Amino acid sequence: MADHKTDIDELSGTTTTGHEWDGLKELNTPLPKWWVYLFYATIVWGIGYCIAYPAWPTMTSYTKGVLGYSSRADGVAAYQAGQAMRAEAGQPLQQASLAEIKGDPSMLAFAEANGKAAFGDNCAPCHGTNGVGNPGYPNLQDDDWLWGGTLDDIHLTLQYGIRSDHDEGRIGDMAAFLRDELLEADQVAQVVDYVRSLSGLEPEGDADLAAGKLVFEENCVSCHGEDAKGMAETGAPNLTDQIWLFGSSHEDVTETVSNGRAGVMPAWVDRLDPITVKSLAVYVHNLGGGQ
Ligand code: HEC
Ligand code: HEC
Repeated sequence: MADHKTDIDELSGTTTTGHEWDGLKELNTPLPKWWVYLFYATIVWGIGYCIAYPAWPTMTSYTKGVLGYSSRADGVAAYQAGQAMRAEAGQPLQQASLAEIKGDPSMLAFAEANGKAAFGDNCAPCHGTNGVGNPGYPNLQDDDWLWGGTLDDIHLTLQYGIRSDHDEGRIGDMAAFLRDELLEADQVAQVVDYVRSLSGLEPEGDADLAAGKLVFEENCVSCHGEDAKGMAETGAPNLTDQIWLFGSSHEDVTETVSNGRAGVMPAWVDRLDPITVKSLAVYVHNLGGGQ
């Protein structure tokens, strides 16, 4: 076998590796210079990177790198900058009354944007996207209000909640008329037929609406009103408007009257900053149903 250093392939002028099979020789073509330098450069870069930035896991932590960079700190800084910007833009809302916010185009624009974002984060899980409501969770776009639909009513509801754990939360419970033995089963059936008829719904089977009306007058008007149109002071819904929070079927209404309902809306005063709560009140009021 020839020494490959001196064995030069005639055709290409390149040295061979000295390997030869059946007269075929393997050329020893060198790597292009640029490729080799690039290769060394990546090694240098890699080592430099490992020194400068967080890189290697250790038993309990990781190597931190001399530059002290952390993507978490970056994120926190960006978040704080955003918060500071928001706080500054929202500052005028701090002192302004709800009516003033509503009347001022720039404050209103801020409240709308801020309220919409906060609604998506905090309220949509219960009240649905854009406040369209879910069974048991009122629609906030219509002008049917359990606890009043003025800016101040809504603001109060948001701050302290409904049947919440806050002392100033709105309270008012519908009794469980069957479970607590305030009414007999047939009286429940009568008043259910009567209440449904107020929204134009057909009774089930033979209904005694006159008897139902009597049960209603004796047991229900104190909260729902003589005209059954509800009372914001008690949170009792209007029963004549074909809007049903807990469902309109005979079964649903029977459940409501038999066992009561006690929807809980959390208090937000301790969870969200005052500017955001104000923004939300304006946003909800502007959804379409504000009074
Ligand atoms: C855990 C579920 C839940 C969350 C979260 C929630 N709500 Fe409610 N909200 C309710 C329930 C339930 C009611 C109805 C209570 C009742 O039956 O009286 C209600 C009632 C309301 C009312 C009163 C409606 C009326 O007709 O008077 C407003 C206004 C309201 N919510 C706004 C909001 C806003 C704004 C947020 C977000 C900051 C929010 N809610 C978050 C459950 C929730
Ligand atoms: C102490 C006050 C009070 C009395 C008395 C009362 N209700 Fe209610 N009622 C309420 C409240 C408050 C609600 C809303 C409950 C909630 O939001 O969780 C309600 C809700 C309802 C609903 C649900 C409406 C819907 O949109 O789904 C029906 C139906 C109803 N009441 C019927 C009656 C009938 C019938 C009687 C009499 C037998 C009666 N209520 C007596 C306070 C009262």
